[in-house]
Amino acid sequence: MNKQNNTQITSADPDDIGNNQSGNASFDSVLEARISRRSILRGGLGGAAAMMFGGVALGGALTACGGGGSSDSAAPTPAPTPAPTPTPAPAARFNFNPVAKNVLDALTIPAGYSAAVLFALGDPINNATAAYKNDGSDDALSFDFRAGDHHDGMNYFGLNAAGTARDPNGSERGLIAMNHEHITDAFLHVAGATAPGGIRPQAEVDKEIRAHGVAVIEVQKTAGKFQLNRGSSYNRRITAQTPMELNGPARGSDYMKTAYSTAGTQGRGTVNNCATGDTPWGTFLTCEENWAGYFSRTGDVSANRSAAELASFTRYGVPSAASGKRWDTAGAADVYKRWNVAASGASAAADFRNEANTFGYVVEIDPYSASSTPRKRTHLGRFAHECAVYAPVAAGKPVVFYMGDDSRNEYIYKYVSKAVWDPADAGRGLAAGDKYLDEGTLYVAKFNADGSGTWLPLTLANTAISGYAGFSFKTVADICVNTRIAADAAGATKMDRPEWCSVNPKNGEVYYTLTNNSNRVTTGASGSKLLPDAANPRAYEDMKGSTKQTGNVNGHIIRTAEAGADPAATSFKWDVYVFAAEAKAGAAVNLSSLTDDNDMSSPDGIWFSPKSGILWIQTDDGAYTDTTNCMMLAALPGKVGDGGAIKVANSVGGTALEVTTQKGKNPDGETLRRFLVGPKDCEITGIAETPDGKTLFVNIQHPGEDTKVADLGDPSKFTSHWPAGGTARPRSATVVITKDDGGTIGLTL
Ligand code: FEO
Ligand code: CA
Ligand code: CA
Repeated sequence: MNKQNNTQITSADPDDIGNNQSGNASFDSVLEARISRRSILRGGLGGAAAMMFGGVALGGALTACGGGGSSDSAAPTPAPTPAPTPTPAPAARFNFNPVAKNVLDALTIPAGYSAAVLFALGDPINNATAAYKNDGSDDALSFDFRAGDHHDGMNYFGLNAAGTARDPNGSERGLIAMNHEHITDAFLHVAGATAPGGIRPQAEVDKEIRAHGVAVIEVQKTAGKFQLNRGSSYNRRITAQTPMELNGPARGSDYMKTAYSTAGTQGRGTVNNCATGDTPWGTFLTCEENWAGYFSRTGDVSANRSAAELASFTRYGVPSAASGKRWDTAGAADVYKRWNVAASGASAAADFRNEANTFGYVVEIDPYSASSTPRKRTHLGRFAHECAVYAPVAAGKPVVFYMGDDSRNEYIYKYVSKAVWDPADAGRGLAAGDKYLDEGTLYVAKFNADGSGTWLPLTLANTAISGYAGFSFKTVADICVNTRIAADAAGATKMDRPEWCSVNPKNGEVYYTLTNNSNRVTTGASGSKLLPDAANPRAYEDMKGSTKQTGNVNGHIIRTAEAGADPAATSFKWDVYVFAAEAKAGAAVNLSSLTDDNDMSSPDGIWFSPKSGILWIQTDDGAYTDTTNCMMLAALPGKVGDGGAIKVANSVGGTALEVTTQKGKNPDGETLRRFLVGPKDCEITGIAETPDGKTLFVNIQHPGEDTKVADLGDPSKFTSHWPAGGTARPRSATVVITKDDGGTIGLTL
């Protein structure tokens, strides 16, 4: 989620969340410089785009475009030269032409490709549940057996041909585990949310709780096309109410004790599940992002809460009064009351004062066991988890996971297991998770100006933490539950909203999207307002129509190379792979020289295909949407250090500030190319691929989310009708993308 205009109190909008007031330093030389202001204001693409794409619409909502050939056929033939010189081996070539930016209410894909909707909001996952009516009237409890809303991160888990067992190479039949991050409550209910911010109707809350969480579905190729297998016994929904085990160092601690689990060993539900990961042992990791906004503290007396509790509430943005979706108001049962974290009873065992401590984790789910209980892995820390991605494993070495905390000015983390990898654990499921994820060391990243970096341990042995004046860290659980505060104490680098990360299968380098940060300034830094630094080097102005946007408006992608190519190393090198920007932006903003074929804003999802090696980049943008809807691009990046140091000439409000950073070699049209553009008001997020690289699954989240509740009676005012078209309400959905000739996606291998 990235929209800035979602002001309903029922929203848990992450974009305006920024709770890091710690004094962690920025570093940089400050020199006089000026940025060249862009002089061209841009409007929408309008009729030209509609004409360009109008003739090849598929079902009105899935649109193919392009020149009708692969880039190979479109590439110029080299002219013969009288004295040929040796040339390097040809680089890999994309097998599609770039898709043009557009603001159509359609999914636009390259010529030679096809897309079909697989799994949309409300679709039944069994044969007993009725088809989705999509008018807001569907029964609340039926969402235990329907697709949730706001499809987000997902992973594919292969099955054998019979569907009876895990097969990591299964490309004809498999499971998809996916997140349902949030809801568009305008369309989920008949007439939007009733009494947002007030006393909520139970039926609406029951539906909202169930429209969140995770879906596990079996998909199977039938007549050459992937379909949902509604009869599959693997299918399940995990919602904001599903029982969970609390694992790791915080299990059984006082932090976790509630009226539901007086021993502090269990919790219920998962919310705001953003991105994901998988594991070398065949499980799914779902990550709780903006969970804090789901809670209220109604009637709580701060004088009755400890200083540590209040510091934790503040640092995580847990509200101090009634807030969020007000699920707590829907009834007297504890499934509702638990969303209010007031200390209302005689002790923690008598109320839900600690309920928020049971959220903010990486949650492990065994997709192959529909009856298994998910486990919250507290040793991977508590923050606005975006994703958790493992480094390639080696026998006898620790297992390492990389993670980002997506809020403004938050940090990048990694977890290094204590247990070393035993290949016999592949496929052992949650038991292997217990072994590798419940004991280890959590680190947070510090980026130095010279292109080096340090992983700072979040341990009691780190005296910056054990001796921290701002919070008393006495146990490992203290660190696991108050991870952000421990990272403040350690001296981590505040980043421009770390979103997804992914590991390059070719060299183990790790790519992290830093989606944007409106809090970067060139003067007057204080509190959450920061000067740019080497790793977050841009602060500039960009116009969206007549609205001026400031800060790191368009985001960038940073990458790291661990010392000695060892994922467990405590130091690394870094550079910026690409600076997102509008192609027409001045050179001081468009630092990577992006063109109309590959310019983008607010990179968010990022994922390397293990088969093709393509780095897929997905956007969740609100800054460039006057020109183009959100998109997905294919990249063939180089490596850390293939560029060099550059000076960035920033300027905000007429104040210049030059910053030196490390930038990779610029991409070009052969190494970065737009693959698709989504429908109106959507975010492109979530990607998975069959192991053979021939089927790509992509999630389209919240098309039409800017539709006003007041306009629900007039479908002509919906901002999107995707995917059904006509007068339909829009729906988040998973699409299946294939190449018409049956080839691999993106690159012909
Ligand atoms: Fe749910 Fe940070 O995106
Ligand atoms: Ca703009
Ligand atoms: Ca995201």
